[in-house]
Amino acid sequence: MDMRLLKNVAGIALLAALAVPAAQAATVKVGVVLTFSGVNAEWGDQIMRGMNLYLKEHPDSLGGNKVELLKRDSKNPSGTVAKTEVQELITRDKVDMLAGFVFSPDAIASAPLITEAKVPTIIMNAGTAWITKLSPYIVRTSFSMWHAAYPMGTYAAKTLGCKTAAVGYTDYPPGKDSLEAFKTGFEAGGGKVVDAIPMGNPAQVPDFTPFLQRVKDEKPGCLYVFVPAGPHAAAVVKTYGDLGLREAGIKLIGPLDIIQDTKLQGMGKAAAGIVVMGHYAADYTNPANEAFVKAWHAAYGKDSTPDFSAVAGWDGMAAIAHVVKTLDGKIDPDKAMKALEGWKFESPRGPIMIDPQTRDIVQNEHVEEVVEKGDRLHVKVLETIPQVKDPCKELKVGKCGQ
Ligand code: PHB
Repeated sequence: MDMRLLKNVAGIALLAALAVPAAQAATVKVGVVLTFSGVNAEWGDQIMRGMNLYLKEHPDSLGGNKVELLKRDSKNPSGTVAKTEVQELITRDKVDMLAGFVFSPDAIASAPLITEAKVPTIIMNAGTAWITKLSPYIVRTSFSMWHAAYPMGTYAAKTLGCKTAAVGYTDYPPGKDSLEAFKTGFEAGGGKVVDAIPMGNPAQVPDFTPFLQRVKDEKPGCLYVFVPAGPHAAAVVKTYGDLGLREAGIKLIGPLDIIQDTKLQGMGKAAAGIVVMGHYAADYTNPANEAFVKAWHAAYGKDSTPDFSAVAGWDGMAAIAHVVKTLDGKIDPDKAMKALEGWKFESPRGPIMIDPQTRDIVQNEHVEEVVEKGDRLHVKVLETIPQVKDPCKELKVGKCGQ
């Protein structure tokens, strides 16, 4: 070979070695299953707003990659529509991850598909404690029903001084879970649950009058209520006010769902004095929440308020972004789960972590009272229990222990 040719060959080889292809930005497909229609339509919009706002405020969080959110409407809380949609998202759309799930039956029905297809899934609301036990590919950034109900039970017996309590609950898995959690905490604290009243289903808002009249006649010290946030919560607080239960000496207590920020101001005076155990209120003054609320108002208007579901969307999106960035857009299911286990984040609700053992959230719980402040209802924090792990799994109760 003559020298000139040799030089050229060497030159081409050198150029080829130097020409490292530019890293390709990946697009990660995330199927988002939420309720966008019917009585529970507000949930989907609120969670999407939280997710979108996170991306808008953190444009670099994906490490140069993209996410495509494929929105699907789970319509009613029966689980059947959500399951069909999850099936389609997995087989036809070939999503890399799943997110959302407002109602527990939607997550419960979808869990076997999630396991079979190994799709890392971020639960953004559904609160039945044992949901995270149903698939090793499920992580929850919202709450377990026990996070609030169990310590609320202890607090009601020991600090509020309620000797007896009635429990009203929406009759489906998270309602039964909330009842069991409250009862366990309340009776461990020395109280006695004197009645447990199933109050309809999550698809329709019932007339709460007969249930609350029954409680008024029984005269317990406390009435603990779990109903889904949204129109159920607004209606139950109104009925509590209309029937004069507070005047009859019966304190209304519950998880934060019954004083959801988006519904609170509309509840009027009936809400003042309610005590809940909760992990978020728009009134929190920690810097992460003040920045979040400011960004929310700038994006969605002064009259719009975030609530715990919006924060679950924000935090859930932060978890997704963490996975996308860590894996540089190439979603391997087992590596994604590894990245999520032990993940820590400064949320508007305070510091949160994904417990590596249970894949459930660890978060602060607050005893909160609704107080009147000028012409506004305000959420006042009375006490904080730091970094609560799901008590159902800590105590190994029922399906949580298996
Ligand atoms: C649930 O179905 O798990 C659920 C729904 C609404 C809530 C809380 C939990 O406010």
